[in-house]
Amino acid sequence: KMKTVVLVTGANSGIGLALCERLLSEAAEGLQLCLACRNMQRARAARQSLLASHPSAQVDLLQLDTSSISSVINAAQEVKLKYERLDYLYLNAGIMPNPRFDVKAFFRGLFSSGVTTMFATGGGIITQWDGVTPDGLREVFATNLFGHFLLVRELEPVLCRAGQTSQLIWTSSNNAHRSAFSLEDLQHQKGTQPYSSSKYASDLLSLALNIHYNNQGLYSSVICPGFVMTNLTYGILPTMPAFLWTLLLPIFWLIRVFTNTFTLTPYSGAEALLWLFKQRPETLDPYAKYHSLTSGLGNNYTQPRKMDIDLETAELVYGKLLELESQMRNKLEKKKTTEIQKKSAGSEQPSYLKQNI
Ligand SMILES: NC(=O)c1ccc[n+]([C@@H]2O[C@H](COP(=O)([O-])OP(=O)(O)OC[C@H]3O[C@@H](n4cnc5c(N)ncnc54)[C@H](OP(=O)(O)O)[C@@H]3O)[C@@H](O)[C@H]2O)c1
Repeated sequence: KMKTVVLVTGANSGIGLALCERLLSEAAEGLQLCLACRNMQRARAARQSLLASHPSAQVDLLQLDTSSISSVINAAQEVKLKYERLDYLYLNAGIMPNPRFDVKAFFRGLFSSGVTTMFATGGGIITQWDGVTPDGLREVFATNLFGHFLLVRELEPVLCRAGQTSQLIWTSSNNAHRSAFSLEDLQHQKGTQPYSSSKYASDLLSLALNIHYNNQGLYSSVICPGFVMTNLTYGILPTMPAFLWTLLLPIFWLIRVFTNTFTLTPYSGAEALLWLFKQRPETLDPYAKYHSLTSGLGNNYTQPRKMDIDLETAELVYGKLLELESQMRNKLEKKKTTEIQKKSAGSEQPSYLKQNI
């Protein structure tokens, strides 16, 4: 029997790694798991830890930096050579760089009617400072969204196969707000919420992908893992005043009793990712986000909630991403051609001429 091929981006830590662990616990024998990571040392460590609990599992490694166009293209090439088909593609890698905790906004929120929303979504209390990638794209946009979009486009031949279905599953967030997003500023060059913007864009993109790919057997859905303690969230902590943090840690576990979005552990955060693995994609709602939730008694479950998105905006985002894709491909081609020209010019010229230049 053919194994189910599953690729997970950002698989070496946090929610991605917990998902791999849970997938293997469910179905180790029938799985061909591929961990796509930017850092191969961390990837090997993750593979080792998975094999320690599942010695007979098939776990492959793939070098993939979602923030780099050439890395995405090379990785996709490798996938296409290695696997005939891809059944599940988890688009999970993500960053929230240089987060800043807004103490004022926090206290304003604490004493407002929106206090539970603030705790559930982190909305407004965390801002980020974004960088630029060597390709000239905004880092958060490139890492969380565009690299993944390009990956899907490159993997079309193994994702769209006659008579079979494949699933794309995005790790989105509660912190995906329409207010942080602008069609005119897709990369979020102007604001201080690039993370929220990138997650809202992924919600829109998932809808558009369903419109354009369902007839080829490819389905897309988004999840929110809830609030989980991982490297990503630990990055926020040093920016909080220490007293607040000591105050919050025990409170977190208390909040968990009342707020089901406080999943806290990567294991619980991965709940919706695992749940989607078991669903027939045709039965899923393209307008829903599937939430990992934990009840007051500590039971994990998955619940769909309608997203604040519309088809028109989704199509516009899709169009803009296609446009950017072709721009980036042209740029890459040009770079290659000038490199080839430089090389051949260098080899044709006699060496005494080169010295005079
Ligand atoms: N934690 C939460 O409360 C929370 C809430 C909502 C959504 N999320 C989302 O959950 C997903 C997983 O995050 P996490 O919380 O599990 O944090 P994490 O432990 O930091 O995991 C993020 C993963 O993404 C990888 N990654 C980052 N940049 C990459 C790049 N350019 N190319 C390839 N891989 C890259 C990281 O690799 P390295 O180890 O090399 O850095 C790591 O494996 C993210 O998309 C995040 O936005 C998390």
